[in-house]
Amino acid sequence: MAAATAKLRLAASAASETDLVVDNVSMHFDTREGRVTAVDGMSFSVERGEFVSIIGPSGCGKSTVFNILGGLVGGYEGKVSVSGETITGPHPSIGMVFQEESTFPWRTVIDNVAFPLEVKGVAKAERYDVARKFIDMVGLAGFEQRYPAELSGGMRQRVAIARTLVFEPKILLMDEPFAALDEQTRVLLGDKVLAIQQELKQTTLLITHNITEAVQLSDRVVIMTFRPGKVKRIVNIRLPRPRQGDVVGSDAFGRYVAEIWNDLREEASRGMAESEAGARKGRS
Ligand SMILES: Nc1ncnc2c1ncn2[C@@H]1O[C@H](COP(=O)(O)OP(=O)(O)OP(=O)(O)O)[C@@H](O)[C@H]1O
Ligand SMILES: [Mg+2]
Repeated sequence: MAAATAKLRLAASAASETDLVVDNVSMHFDTREGRVTAVDGMSFSVERGEFVSIIGPSGCGKSTVFNILGGLVGGYEGKVSVSGETITGPHPSIGMVFQEESTFPWRTVIDNVAFPLEVKGVAKAERYDVARKFIDMVGLAGFEQRYPAELSGGMRQRVAIARTLVFEPKILLMDEPFAALDEQTRVLLGDKVLAIQQELKQTTLLITHNITEAVQLSDRVVIMTFRPGKVKRIVNIRLPRPRQGDVVGSDAFGRYVAEIWNDLREEASRGMAESEAGARKGRS
């Protein structure tokens, strides 16, 4: 009996090492031009504390996967589970950072970051204390009283990241959070996010179309095919940690980038050929 209980406990702890499981997920959209399969039988998982990126050409279904994981859209086939529990809508363990600018322009930095705590009814002094900790973490100490319009794009994105971190979500989902930034800011902000992720040991899933970013940050990179989006390949990035921005200059880094680029080029070319064929059909 005791042995059976111990076994059960062991099984439960092993199962809980996987935080996020995407199991054979498909999603179709009915459009004027007919049915579009945006995601086709995708399966992958993210272990606790792991940093995984999803990379794929434009229109391959990345944001669709992001919205499904965040519980923002329904009507898909397959199953998504968080710590073994199937999700049916937004899950309290999941925090999301969106591609679009999402700071509140009428609030100062500290009131932006403290917003989720305000909604929860946390008293002002306490929520400011917590917000300051995360403002510090994203490197914005001293800017607490500024308004978003007085910050650069990269700084505003850091405010959005800090606001999501304030929740202390177990799982952090980000959809192209650095897309609007220049390459240098992107690498530096990537460093910052990585340092925070390592400190908080957060399970992180990043959606990107930037190969350098994916290799710099991830333990594994999930490469998607062009429409319909499937898993083409999963690459393990065996670069030592802690990693800093200078890792991008190493030979090993270059090899990973070349390897992933090879896979992506095939998919991007296919995407381009399909859209050119579509345009020709439209003209004839
Ligand atoms: N609400 C919707 N209604 C109809 N079609 C949709 C809808 N959302 C997405 N699609 C289609 O599904 C496919 C995948 O879109 P999605 O936004 O997931 O791509 P993506 O990989 O995020 O692209 P990008 O890199 O450009 O952001 C596209 O063909 C898109 O037109
Ligand atoms: Mg997208």
